[in-house]
Amino acid sequence: MEAHLTEWLNLSIRWVHMITGIAWIGASFYFVWLENNLNRKNPRDGLAGDLWAIHGGGIYHLEKYKLAPPKMPDNLHWFKWEAYWTWMSGVALLMVVYYLNPSLYLIAPGSDMAPAVAIAIGLGSLVAGYVAYHFLCDSALGKRPALLGAVLFVLLIAAAYGFSLIFSGRAAYLHVGAIIGTIMVGNVFFTIMPAQRALVKAIEDNTTPDPSLPAKGLLRSRHNNYFTLPVLFIMISNHFPSTYGSQYSWLILAGIAIFAVLVRHYFNTRHDSNKFAWTLPAAALGMICLAYVTSPMRPAPSATPVAAQASQPAAVVAQAEHASEAPLAATQTETPAAAGNPDFTKVNGVIQERCAVCHSATPSSPMFSAAPAGLILDTPQQIQQQAAKIQAQAVASQVMPLGNITQMTQEERNLIGAWIAQGAKLD
Ligand code: HEC
Repeated sequence: MEAHLTEWLNLSIRWVHMITGIAWIGASFYFVWLENNLNRKNPRDGLAGDLWAIHGGGIYHLEKYKLAPPKMPDNLHWFKWEAYWTWMSGVALLMVVYYLNPSLYLIAPGSDMAPAVAIAIGLGSLVAGYVAYHFLCDSALGKRPALLGAVLFVLLIAAAYGFSLIFSGRAAYLHVGAIIGTIMVGNVFFTIMPAQRALVKAIEDNTTPDPSLPAKGLLRSRHNNYFTLPVLFIMISNHFPSTYGSQYSWLILAGIAIFAVLVRHYFNTRHDSNKFAWTLPAAALGMICLAYVTSPMRPAPSATPVAAQASQPAAVVAQAEHASEAPLAATQTETPAAAGNPDFTKVNGVIQERCAVCHSATPSSPMFSAAPAGLILDTPQQIQQQAAKIQAQAVASQVMPLGNITQMTQEERNLIGAWIAQGAKLD
């Protein structure tokens, strides 16, 4: 019952998070697009430019004022609640998924870190991330946007690396996303909104607005714009164990973040020139390269000879216990020979013991009221049918069992890997 309630709580909050997130990012994309596409030739008096658009069967005419209209309108629309709700629902979701079940989702498998400590680190990192960002923007670096961007990038990837040492792979990624999301909403709350309020107040009071405030707001809003694509990847990353489940998860994240920023940069500059048109194919090529280097089928350069490894099973197991989630690609490529000729009875035994507590039509784990992700591994046919997925999540990357809560050993992973490599046969 409790598991069922958690699932519906998760569902409801996640839904709100998605809806408000789409509204926030949609508005952000739209206004950046509007700003970039304004017709600035011979504007009417007091205007910065205008723009004509057709949408939903109607024609719109928008005008941007250089500073303000002669008289403030009765009804000025503000855009802030979509940002605040995205953040609030995001933090709620972080709690429901990661902090309610820290041993399953948050803490690195095998780590003996206390749940309260891990949660404190998680929440503390959100605050620390925003404070560090805020001071960096206000420092001398704030006047050198490219350098500031590079420093922020290095710090965030350092955070991803640090998290990967103590958190599960997916929690490590998610906390980087949560730090960025917190920076983004902090920008709205602490910088952009106060700047806008000061501007409106100055206009209403007929005083000259302080020009430094809107400039600051614009810089922060640009940062937010570049942050959106990396954050969106992180928010869907838990579907992709070959990213967060890799030993080099933080490097993969760095690569994807760079490609995302390149793509954003193209769309932000294309109205002016095609100088950055190369960024699109470059990002696509980068994704292809990442797919290649993360492939579990690729022999690792440091592979030890199969015979040597087979004679040291204890060493393999010890090594696996040290690796947080995914060990070296080397162990994966060698598994078939190392594990001999596995028969299905053994494989089935392992799956029933290590997986079916959750992945069953009737899970015995109190944490799940239905098979997680709809994946049921009760019968041999079901196991055979899902062999590719099992290989991806329990052999190539080792993100399953979640939190390694059922204490699957490296030998068992090798056994399953070998069975799948030899065609996943049932006899
Ligand atoms: C403690 C419960 C638990 C155990 C034990 C467990 N899993 Fe999972 N598994 C989950 C949850 C929860 C998800 C969904 C993850 C998510 O939120 O994306 C999942 C997802 C998966 C998926 C992805 C399914 C899909 O279609 O996206 C695979 C494959 C998988 N598990 C395989 C295994 C294997 C193989 C084992 C045993 C070696 C195992 N799991 C053990 C809880 C568990």
